[in-house]
Amino acid sequence: MFSQELKGKVALVTGGSSGIGKASALALARAGATVVVASRRTVEGEQTAHEIHERGGDAIFIKTDVSKSSDVKALVEKTVDTFGSLDYACNNAGVVMMGTLIETSEEDWNQIVNVNLKGTWLCLKYEIQAMQKQSKGAIVNIASGASIVGGAGYSIYSASKGGAIALSRAAALEYAKSRVRINAISPGPTKTLIWDSLPSDILTQFEAQLPIGRIGEPEEIAEAVVWLCSDKASFITGHNLVIDGGYTAQ
Ligand SMILES: NC(=O)c1ccc[n+]([C@@H]2O[C@H](COP(=O)([O-])OP(=O)(O)OC[C@H]3O[C@@H](n4cnc5c(N)ncnc54)[C@H](OP(=O)(O)O)[C@@H]3O)[C@@H](O)[C@H]2O)c1
Repeated sequence: MFSQELKGKVALVTGGSSGIGKASALALARAGATVVVASRRTVEGEQTAHEIHERGGDAIFIKTDVSKSSDVKALVEKTVDTFGSLDYACNNAGVVMMGTLIETSEEDWNQIVNVNLKGTWLCLKYEIQAMQKQSKGAIVNIASGASIVGGAGYSIYSASKGGAIALSRAAALEYAKSRVRINAISPGPTKTLIWDSLPSDILTQFEAQLPIGRIGEPEEIAEAVVWLCSDKASFITGHNLVIDGGYTAQ
């Protein structure tokens, strides 16, 4: 069942091919928005758009690598050319890699930072320009609880997400007068593919430490994405919303 809340609005979700991004794309569509799904994997990205169509919504997939400025520029241009505006963006694409800072190679650093931090900057850069033209917009950057508490064993990931939070705050200030609201969400451990590349016991260890007694579901992050985009959050900008079952409250 689709609501009217975001009807007539256009939302872009990076990393919409799986996990939190896919759940956010589906939730934005459920709220009535037309959704542009962007990621590198074509089959999975098309599948998200297909599921939105099946439920009566409108969506397209645009193959995008957020670490490449030409891809991100083309993504925003194609969104506006196709649908006439860009009202909301969820910059969610991200990668994780384990390793202490000594173990991390320059190549690993570049891979993590180019997607998680440079990718967020590139998305903001082109999305904000589109939103400025219409004098309104809302952006949600997906960071991580690892930006708030130290992440021993994944220090570069933590640094990239900490950078994304700092960038979100500064961007919110730079474009508040343009009526572009920019917020971040810092999820705690959430059930997605991102854990598949990590040692299997890590998620169990996190789960044991979560006050709420379980890890999160992607849909529990997606609901907050929709709310932060909507006019219900019209006075909120520069905020980092932590959604982690109480992990960082300890
Ligand atoms: N799950 C958690 O516990 C958790 C906790 C805190 C924060 N987060 C953050 O949540 C976000 C989503 O992760 P997830 O947990 O949902 O994992 P996921 O299912 O692996 O999703 C990651 C998404 O990022 C996309 N992506 C990766 N590199 C990309 C690139 N260069 N260009 C475009 N898209 C790219 C992937 O799509 P393609 O492979 O198709 O490109 C995929 O859709 C990430 O930023 C992650 O750091 C997750």
